[in-house]
Amino acid sequence: MKELSKRTAGFTDSVIRRMTRISLKYGAVNLSQGFPDFDPPSMITERLKSIAPHGPHQYALTWGAQNFREALAKKQKHFSGMEVDPDKNIVVTAGSTEAMMAAMMSVCDPGDKVVIFSPFYENYGADTILSGAEPVYVTLIPPEYSFDPDVLEAAVKMDGVKALILCNPSNPSGKVFTQEELQIIADLAIKYDIYVITDEVYEHIVYKPFRHTYMATLKGMADRTIMCSSLSKTYSITGWRLGYVIANEDITDRVKKVHDFLTVGAAAPLMEAAVEGLLFPDEYYAELLETYTQKKDLFCSGLDDIGLSYTKPQGAYYVMVDISRFGFDNDLEFCEKLAEKVGVGAVPGSSFFKEPENRYIRFHFAKKEDTLKEALERLSNIDRMKK
Ligand SMILES: Cc1ncc(COP(=O)(O)O)c(C=O)c1O
Repeated sequence: MKELSKRTAGFTDSVIRRMTRISLKYGAVNLSQGFPDFDPPSMITERLKSIAPHGPHQYALTWGAQNFREALAKKQKHFSGMEVDPDKNIVVTAGSTEAMMAAMMSVCDPGDKVVIFSPFYENYGADTILSGAEPVYVTLIPPEYSFDPDVLEAAVKMDGVKALILCNPSNPSGKVFTQEELQIIADLAIKYDIYVITDEVYEHIVYKPFRHTYMATLKGMADRTIMCSSLSKTYSITGWRLGYVIANEDITDRVKKVHDFLTVGAAAPLMEAAVEGLLFPDEYYAELLETYTQKKDLFCSGLDDIGLSYTKPQGAYYVMVDISRFGFDNDLEFCEKLAEKVGVGAVPGSSFFKEPENRYIRFHFAKKEDTLKEALERLSNIDRMKK
């Protein structure tokens, strides 16, 4: 048999999704893969029920149902002030995952380079490989996960750099980039004429006093930002696979074509039902934030009681816990043992870092209070992990 593609030969299965399987195997409380164990807003699920008999059940427009794009454009204007034309500036995709892939394929040719902050959400590595690009990593230095502007400039100015990927708020670090940091990135993007591809799926989960700033709203950035986001986290519907690209028309023209060949379109009945969510008033987002703030506080104070050290999340719903005191030099082995001996699933930090980093594991806290309490109860036995 002929060799399968060289491009994908180095792919391993996703470590995050592997940890979900390991958690299931040991009956562990799964705090690895980031999805809620609570229900989406009932208005959205009720709407889905009501449209089931009559649809829409056939393909929607490739770039997304008209009412969905109109509602999304309004929501984006409300939260960011951006003028988004629903016909010109939006492509609805199968989650932010497809949005990112379509953006990368629209921007990159084989041999181009893409700057990625490390630690990073693991899909970005695969996105670059599938689009033929080569990643250039810039370290976010723990525990603050700040970057050195000179190191960033040295990376951005390399020959062949076409884009930078910005995950804000950031998974796994929980970092929310400050206005000043975003300005440094924007200035470099303009100076060296590169695109910024943003992944803003946690845009509505930003803890006070931190604030989310949309990169596209910075002066000079509207035309060179390709914003990717999704409904997965904001409305607790990760399985619905609804995301989108917002960008200028020249870019969305290309993204529409890539998207058409990748998936044809997002799921029509789910778009129809999710419009409800896009039309929610401000109170919904305030409550969402309040819910996650309580989960964060509960989980972090539990970690404090157990005596684990970690970086306080500024946004998103992840905590990076320092495991150096347990004496493991392989964090994957640590996570497998943690699931087996303590009964809690986590993701080895090394799957997010380009650097040879084995000091961290990542938990997520998008779980019901009872689930978090059960996980903390089990984690109180973490000293079993000492070598
Ligand atoms: C940073 C980030 N981007 C994208 C995704 C996936 O988003 P979607 O469900 O919209 O594909 C996740 C899911 O955990 C994520 O953490």
